[in-house]
Amino acid sequence: MKIAVFGGTGSMGHSLSVHLARRNEVIVASRDAARATVAARGVKGANGSGYREAGERCEAAIVAIPFGAISLLSPLRGTLAGKLVLSAVNPMKVVRGAFAYGLESGSAAESLASLLPESRLATAFNNIPASCIGRARTRPLDVLVAADERETFNAAAGVVLSIPGLRPRYAGPLSEAGTVERITPLILNLAADSGEENLAPMFVSTPSRPRPASVFKGGPKGKS
Ligand SMILES: NC(=O)c1ccc[n+]([C@@H]2O[C@H](COP(=O)([O-])OP(=O)(O)OC[C@H]3O[C@@H](n4cnc5c(N)ncnc54)[C@H](OP(=O)(O)O)[C@@H]3O)[C@@H](O)[C@H]2O)c1
Repeated sequence: MKIAVFGGTGSMGHSLSVHLARRNEVIVASRDAARATVAARGVKGANGSGYREAGERCEAAIVAIPFGAISLLSPLRGTLAGKLVLSAVNPMKVVRGAFAYGLESGSAAESLASLLPESRLATAFNNIPASCIGRARTRPLDVLVAADERETFNAAAGVVLSIPGLRPRYAGPLSEAGTVERITPLILNLAADSGEENLAPMFVSTPSRPRPASVFKGGPKGKS
């Protein structure tokens, strides 16, 4: 798949680009096309370009830029229409020396969805530190995907699975994106407290007796 990584010159965007490039065609997207071209030299088979060209050429997009910058995607509403857009964006702030979620309500992914209403929005990669993506090969990590439609979830899961060791997990509809994004400041605080540099989420299931009836009857809407 041809995937544009917006913020591909940054820490998270670069790491995603490097690991996605093994099974996808990556376009490193930057506000500055020249900077994108330089960054793409470090990514196997990738090209670099400005936002507009990347939006036109890609089949799917990953957004890995600061929350305060997401309005930069707004002019791409038309070119990203109908395409999968994965948001790795976490709004964060520091309160009394600890990381905290940056929004009173809503989420970055929902904000992006309102800027790109014809795109198929999902969360992905929010809680995986850039430095851990390559390590998932030896120790699987869970990637929480909130999406409204089954088709969007399946497409997002395909992108996640193209990086060895990353496991997509359905986290509810896009209205749950804030829940997914809030895990990131939690992880950073846990890591700071424990001194574990590369802390990343992996959910484990323990053997149990027959499961109680679940209140969760969902899964994404649509045919599986
Ligand atoms: N770092 C991680 O481990 C990690 C993990 C999961 C999720 N994330 C999320 O990914 C996003 C990026 O984080 P990061 O750590 O990769 O940040 P970063 O290293 O600072 O990179 C951010 C990139 O975003 C681009 N950008 C666009 N508009 C910007 C603006 N107004 N100000 C600054 N940069 C702008 C910049 O690229 P150009 O200058 O080339 O346009 C820059 O290279 C954040 O929302 C973060 O929560 C990060």
